[in-house]
Amino acid sequence: MISAVDVIRTKRDGGELSRAQIDWVIDAYTKGEVADEQMSALAMAILLNGAADREVADWTAAMIASGERLDLSDVGRPTVDKHSTGGVGDKITLPLAPLVASFGVAVPQLSGRGLGHTGGTLDKLESIPGWRANLSNQEFIARLSDPGCVVCAAGDDLAPADRKLYALRDVTGTVESIPLIASSIMSKKIAEGTESLVLDVKVGSGAFMKNPDDARQLASTMVRLGAAHGVRCTAFLTDMDTPLGRTAGNALEVAESLEVLAGGGPSDVVELTVTLAREMLSLAGQPDADPSAALADGRAMDTWRAMIAAQGGDPDAKLPAAPETEEVCAETDGVITRLDAMSVGLAAWRLGAGRARKSDPVSAAAGVEILATVGDRVNAGQPLLRLHADDASTFEAARASLEDAWDIGSTAPDRRLILDTIR
Ligand code: URA
Repeated sequence: MISAVDVIRTKRDGGELSRAQIDWVIDAYTKGEVADEQMSALAMAILLNGAADREVADWTAAMIASGERLDLSDVGRPTVDKHSTGGVGDKITLPLAPLVASFGVAVPQLSGRGLGHTGGTLDKLESIPGWRANLSNQEFIARLSDPGCVVCAAGDDLAPADRKLYALRDVTGTVESIPLIASSIMSKKIAEGTESLVLDVKVGSGAFMKNPDDARQLASTMVRLGAAHGVRCTAFLTDMDTPLGRTAGNALEVAESLEVLAGGGPSDVVELTVTLAREMLSLAGQPDADPSAALADGRAMDTWRAMIAAQGGDPDAKLPAAPETEEVCAETDGVITRLDAMSVGLAAWRLGAGRARKSDPVSAAAGVEILATVGDRVNAGQPLLRLHADDASTFEAARASLEDAWDIGSTAPDRRLILDTIR
């Protein structure tokens, strides 16, 4: 007979949980038979004492088994997804999904909403008038055949144990555990039914993982979990000390993604989109595909328009614009040597682009426009950032989070965007 207290004690004392203990505790927690306070104690014991690879694999399997595992075998195309651990200005899914789908590969993206300083893909897409995030499983699968990519909210039956546990970790200081993060992300991606997966593990001030060693450990744990469940995975470690691109905020990021789909856009967003697309296409059996060509010739844009329209959105509608804007200016002449991702993310959040609690609404139009970034030469008084808000009273708090957000000096360090690849 397994009891919650015995499971907690095993982990508290540095022992290893058996497969039977893990299956039992995840199942009982999902059914409400193990209490939140017991699961909190167990999550804290895992955070403090870690977990062996075998325990992480069993924990992931138990979370997948807590709900349904989608079968995408009728789609008739290879399936490949991308997951990012979240960063400031990370809108890559928006150009990436239609870009990869324009090569005849299906991209199933069950996404989440943003919490805290990183934005959620669904929040960004919801700034497009008419666009719907909630689809049935049948609609989800139909969209994978035509137009070939779909971004929507995960249904309640997908890894329900993770849904409950993630909410609990959020309020008990137990999010930052590599075994718990890896099993949380991979249980959802494996249950989604994708054959291959590219992981973008962010590292730096604006990311969960502040140092490369932790990020590498998270990436390799996820790649191994994928392999154990028959999902081909590649992980990239990418820089998140500096915000990605020139915007952080929902409609602002959609507008920037449209620039990328039109063959332009900021060079870092284009580089990451093309790198991830090349790897996704390679995992899907097209190692020689040229994603840059599909951005330049409009194929990716055509697929984007079809993807938005298929979910009720109007690809030609004007995006919401903020009624209030204010600029933040450089105080000296020189070259920007640092622009802190976390500070910009917090500013966007305080302007209304993000939420503090799951149930909070977000503003479509609020956010930060980055007018000058690392490596750019500026003069004293020149605007560096433009703040966008529905309500001008948010500017003061946003400015406070930007107090130590940049340095101006003489030479900027070279920015390496892609730090490592783990296969
Ligand atoms: N994202 C997830 O889905 N789960 C985590 O634990 C952390 C980030």
